[in-house]
Amino acid sequence: METRVGQSVAEAAAWLQQGRLVAIPTETVYGLAANALDADAVLDIFAVKGRPAFNPLIVHVHDATEFARYAETVPDEVYQLAARFSPGPITFVLPRKACIPDAITAGGDTVALRIPNHPLTLELLRSTGMPLAAPSANPSGYISPVTANHVLDQLGGRIPYILDGGPCSVGIESTVVTWHEGRCLVLRTGGLTIEELRSVVPTVETTSDDPAQPRSPGQLTSHYAPRIPLVLGNLDELLERHAGQRIGLLSFRPLAVPIAVVRHEVLSTTGDLGEAARSLFGALRRLDACGADIILAERVPEHGLGVAINDRLQRAAAER
Ligand code: TXA
Ligand code: MG
Repeated sequence: METRVGQSVAEAAAWLQQGRLVAIPTETVYGLAANALDADAVLDIFAVKGRPAFNPLIVHVHDATEFARYAETVPDEVYQLAARFSPGPITFVLPRKACIPDAITAGGDTVALRIPNHPLTLELLRSTGMPLAAPSANPSGYISPVTANHVLDQLGGRIPYILDGGPCSVGIESTVVTWHEGRCLVLRTGGLTIEELRSVVPTVETTSDDPAQPRSPGQLTSHYAPRIPLVLGNLDELLERHAGQRIGLLSFRPLAVPIAVVRHEVLSTTGDLGEAARSLFGALRRLDACGADIILAERVPEHGLGVAINDRLQRAAAER
C-alpha cells in the first residue's frame, strides 16, 4: 500500500469515511486514527500497532459538548477542567455509553475522551463530525512519534494517509484522569502537569499501587522502549561503568563528556522542561538508530513536565 503524506484535511476525512486508518497530528504525539463508531476500523488499529486487545483507546472529539454523547455521566469537574485546559493534553476516563464499540473500551465500562489541540485535527473532527479513536501512532511498546516522518518510518506501507501537522508542540502524551468514588485520580502523568490540575481540582490524587483503585491498562512497566538497552542513573557513574562500549548519551542539559561517545543528545540547552519534553522522543529515536550498543540517560528534575518525562524514561529503561 502506498502511504501518502500531506496536509489535506479533505483527503484524511475521505479515507476515514471509507473505514481506513489515518495518522493525525496532535499537540502531544501523532495518533493512529479510525472512526470510533466503526468497530471494524477500530480493530484495524490494534492489528497495525500490534496492540494487545486489553488496552483501551482514547476517543478524540472537537468540543466538550460532545462528551455527553459518549459518556453516561460527566462530573462537573470535567467541564471545569475542560474549560481551562481543552483543547489540550488532558484525557477524561468516564462511564461509557453503549454507542462506543467494545474494542475501544477493551470490554470495560469506561471510555477515554480528549480534545486534541491541533488546528488540522480539530478541523478534521469538526468537518466530519466523526469521533476519532486514536492511540499513539507507533508499534505497541516503541517510542511515540512526534513528527510525520516518525510515523512514516514505522507505519509506512500499512496506512493510506498521514496528515502532516509538523512537529508536536508538547511532545509527550496527554495526562489521563478519572473519577473514583467522586475523587479525581491521575492514571497517567503527561503533558498537563499535576500543578496545573491542582489549580482547578485541588484534591486531585495520583494513583498508588492500591489494586482496588482503577489503573490505566496501558501503563505497562516496559513502554516507550528503544531497541537497544537504556540505562537510567547518574551519568558520571554510568559513563565510567560502561566505558569501552559504544555509548549513546542522553543528558538533560549540556555536559562536557569525558570519553568518546557515538552520539550525545541534549534535551534542553537552557534546562527548560517544556523544551525537554518536545525533544525527548526524537532524541530517543536518534539514539536508537546511531549504532550504539547502549543508551545512558539521566532523570530530569521531578516537577512540572519533569514528572511525565521521568515516567517515560523509567519505562524506556524497564526490563522487557
Ligand atoms: O496524547 C495522547 O493521549 C495520545 C494522542 C494521540 O491523543 N494518545 C495516546 O494514546 O497516548 P495511547 O493509546 O498510546 O495511550 C492511551 C492511554 C493508555 O495508557 C490506555 O490504557 C489509557 O490511555 N486508556 C484509554 N482508555 C482508557 C480507559 N477506558 N480506562 C483507563 N485507561 C484508559
Ligand atoms: Mg502510546
